[in-house]
Amino acid sequence: MNYTKILGTGSYVPRTVLTNDDLKQFVDTSDEWISSRTGIKKRHIVTDEYTIDLAYHASLKAIEDSKIDKAEIDLLIVATVTPDNAFPGVSNLLQGRLGLEKIMTFDINAACSGFLYALNIADKMIKSGAYNNALIVGAETLTRLTDWRDRNTCVLFGDAAGAMIISRSEENNIQDVICGSISDSEGNLICHNVDIKDPSVNAKSVQDHIHMNGREVFKFATRIMPKTIRDLLERNNYQLDDLDYIVAHQANERIIDKAARDLGFPMDKMYLNISEYGNTSAASVPLAIDEAIRTNKLRKGDLFATVAFGGGFTWGGAIIKL
Ligand SMILES: CC(C)(COP(=O)(O)OP(=O)(O)OC[C@H]1O[C@@H](n2cnc3c(N)ncnc32)[C@H](O)[C@@H]1OP(=O)(O)O)[C@@H](O)C(=O)NCCC(=O)NCCS
Repeated sequence: MNYTKILGTGSYVPRTVLTNDDLKQFVDTSDEWISSRTGIKKRHIVTDEYTIDLAYHASLKAIEDSKIDKAEIDLLIVATVTPDNAFPGVSNLLQGRLGLEKIMTFDINAACSGFLYALNIADKMIKSGAYNNALIVGAETLTRLTDWRDRNTCVLFGDAAGAMIISRSEENNIQDVICGSISDSEGNLICHNVDIKDPSVNAKSVQDHIHMNGREVFKFATRIMPKTIRDLLERNNYQLDDLDYIVAHQANERIIDKAARDLGFPMDKMYLNISEYGNTSAASVPLAIDEAIRTNKLRKGDLFATVAFGGGFTWGGAIIKL
């Protein structure tokens, strides 16, 4: 039987830190408002680095942690909504920078659920027997799409990357991954791409900023997170008590708190690092898993669930034994 396991993890954040007080220079906000409504205290933002740079540093750490020879990696997937180019993909450029030969590489866009989509795809491709070792990365520079004058959105996001090596194994450690989406025709969380251009003018392409209806996103998130965890438990014949930890997408501490209360799961077993990084979209889950492992919150043998939601709307979840 082809099973899969996590062989290594890594993460990277840019050095520059923007605190809630720093944000007061641009918008009418306060540390008190941001902290109490979201749990965010600061975020790391790019100044001279791009998505590929964050992805590269996180990947190097994951490869080192996995102790495999990078030549054994035969699949590379990058989840991002902030690729540096329309094409080639971040994954293709990352392949070159890491010196990986002639393997299949592609980017996927499932917003903040992107890493769980990448995990789902890689897990199934390895379980099919066609691939052995996948490097999967969530890398984002969402602050490049941020409208720094829109206090509804600019306080929420930060930049980061997280990476994971998952491999074929005799042990059934990545036990289940599920993903889904519903089409949000209202555009409750959207960043428009470049418009159709008039050939006679041929103006330079400009990308729009992030637009969000926070209340609708909040409602969706607090509904889908507990549902996804319950679905995972039921599909795999587990009880809530069997979980040592839940690592949820770090979008808002109040969303995580409400999901924990709905489930009846102790808040001290919900991993939290949002105060330091804000919402880093597809990087949020792998960054949190990597940190939880490094800080010994997650240990070898632990069973944990991870869950994310994002623009689209999309969602994903997994049950993993370390
Ligand atoms: C964005 C969010 C924190 C707003 O919290 P909220 O409690 O719903 O706040 P509201 O939208 O009701 O706004 C309340 C007031 O605060 C104001 N406000 C909004 N952002 C503010 C800020 N940064 N600082 C100060 N005031 C702010 C609003 O203008 C509003 O003022 P008004 O009542 O005078 O109109 C919350 O809705 C949320 O987290 N939604 C989910 C967002 C998310 O997770 N997005 C990413 C998904 S991957």
